[in-house]
Amino acid sequence: IDPSLDLVAEINRLRRERNAVILAHYYQDGEIQDLADFVGDSLDLSRKAAATDADVIVFCGVRFMGEVAKILSPTKTVLIPDADAGCSLEESCQPETFRAFRERHPDHIAVTYINCSAAIKALSDVIVTSSNAEAILRQLPADRPILFAPDRHLGSYLARISGREMTLWPGSCIIHEQFSERELVKLKVRHPNALVAAHPECPEAVLLHADHVGSTRAILEYVLASDRDEFIIATEQHIIHQMTKAAPHKTFLPAPGADGGCSCSSCPFMALNTLEKIYLCLVNDAPAITVPEPLRLEALKPLEKMLEMSR
Ligand code: 13P
Repeated sequence: IDPSLDLVAEINRLRRERNAVILAHYYQDGEIQDLADFVGDSLDLSRKAAATDADVIVFCGVRFMGEVAKILSPTKTVLIPDADAGCSLEESCQPETFRAFRERHPDHIAVTYINCSAAIKALSDVIVTSSNAEAILRQLPADRPILFAPDRHLGSYLARISGREMTLWPGSCIIHEQFSERELVKLKVRHPNALVAAHPECPEAVLLHADHVGSTRAILEYVLASDRDEFIIATEQHIIHQMTKAAPHKTFLPAPGADGGCSCSSCPFMALNTLEKIYLCLVNDAPAITVPEPLRLEALKPLEKMLEMSR
């Protein structure tokens, strides 16, 4: 790429020419969030992808999110800036092992977090995100036990708040897993007025110190609605970009890892996406997400059930 190229201007030109919409998760770099047509959490982004009348969706997030967009909008071209943008939760849950897990628990309802592959979705009864999981669980028959995959921390949080019997898959997110309870308590002592907002992918020891637990959108809404002006944010740190934009007078501190610093709260997969790669994917029409039609139809069922149950 010519280093003198104005990437933002070029991306704007290409998105008009291609009738493309750029969707970005809150975990993307600030410059990507600012460029996007829509920034949201996993549920809102799925809804946008299902409803858009664009011809092309450029999905700035991780691969499974682009895959969800393709499953819901199969006639659109779905481009992702970097095909290597994976997810530790998706990786932890492979179809053969998951199938065996289901077979060992034949009476269970398989409630699966959206952070998984199309193959795992196809083996699930209903998909959830962190913003609708509690509401969906409440609608499921009370006499049936639940199998929850792949995030064990989100699963145990849901079991605690719902009182449901749940068998958990042993996966976790490499970002949320690393927040340190000890360092969080030290930070709270130094900032006694700060409220703690945490994503339910955090371990229980971290959630115990949270004033609010919710999805990225819920965390954002919480800090903006609060009359307090100092917060510790226990999720991927790029969401702080939206917080600072909307409330520049407030202070947002990323939750610390075991070394007391916050480098652990930056997702290396999300960070693979850059303006340059967004430009290139629009020029090359690649990498594009493809999902074989029989698999897409099977994965669509539990996703549609999720959308129905979270209206
Ligand atoms: P939400 O977008 O539902 O807050 O989940 C965050 C996440 O884990 C994205 O991978």
